[in-house]
Amino acid sequence: MSLAAPIVIRPARLGDALAIAALHHVAVHKLAAPFYPREVLEHWSPPVTLTGAERRYRETQEDGGLTLLAEHDGGLAGFGVVIPEAGEIAACYVAPELSRRGIGRTLLGAMEATVSAHGVHEINVRASLNSKSFYSAFGYHVSGRGEYRFEDGTVMVVAFMRKDNSPIV
Ligand SMILES: CC(C)(COP(=O)(O)OP(=O)(O)OC[C@H]1O[C@@H](n2cnc3c(N)ncnc32)[C@H](O)[C@@H]1OP(=O)(O)O)[C@@H](O)C(=O)NCCC(=O)NCCS
Repeated sequence: MSLAAPIVIRPARLGDALAIAALHHVAVHKLAAPFYPREVLEHWSPPVTLTGAERRYRETQEDGGLTLLAEHDGGLAGFGVVIPEAGEIAACYVAPELSRRGIGRTLLGAMEATVSAHGVHEINVRASLNSKSFYSAFGYHVSGRGEYRFEDGTVMVVAFMRKDNSPIV
């Protein structure tokens, strides 16, 4: 189903941190729930606090991450994090009630354009199992199976995915 209002992409600010964290939480616990045990979901996205949200936002920036927001009808509809110099898509999350309307596609396109603008043409993503079909739809191929280990040893299985984003000459 398409959206009535346009999707607007803009860079995030610190003041968006809480809304980003809240969207992350609901997207993980609704959209990824069929793919992971509850303990993994709880580590991946613990309960949201303002302090935690702002800390995470600052850490993302310190790691070279650019956070892009997708807004629809004046509200936050999704966000993505890209590390352009590393050619890495570090996050792409969409509000569950707006999924399958092209918001992820728009965010991913904006992140890929940012990577290309930095002269980097290979893009990598550590994809959650629930998002593999999404990345596959845009030309990403699985290059390996990975494991993310949380501090207490809980393991989250992910797929390493890669795309050659070289310009067509
Ligand atoms: C993955 C995610 C970002 C996709 O966002 P979205 O806005 O629903 O995606 P789009 O509507 O742009 O989908 C574009 C295409 O991707 C594919 N796709 C997206 N979600 C899919 C799914 N669950 N199953 C199969 N294909 C899917 C389809 O080809 C789709 O096109 P179609 O709807 O015309 O068939 C969203 O489901 C999400 O936030 N998931 C939870 C968070 C997460 O795990 N993020 C990835 C972290 S690496």
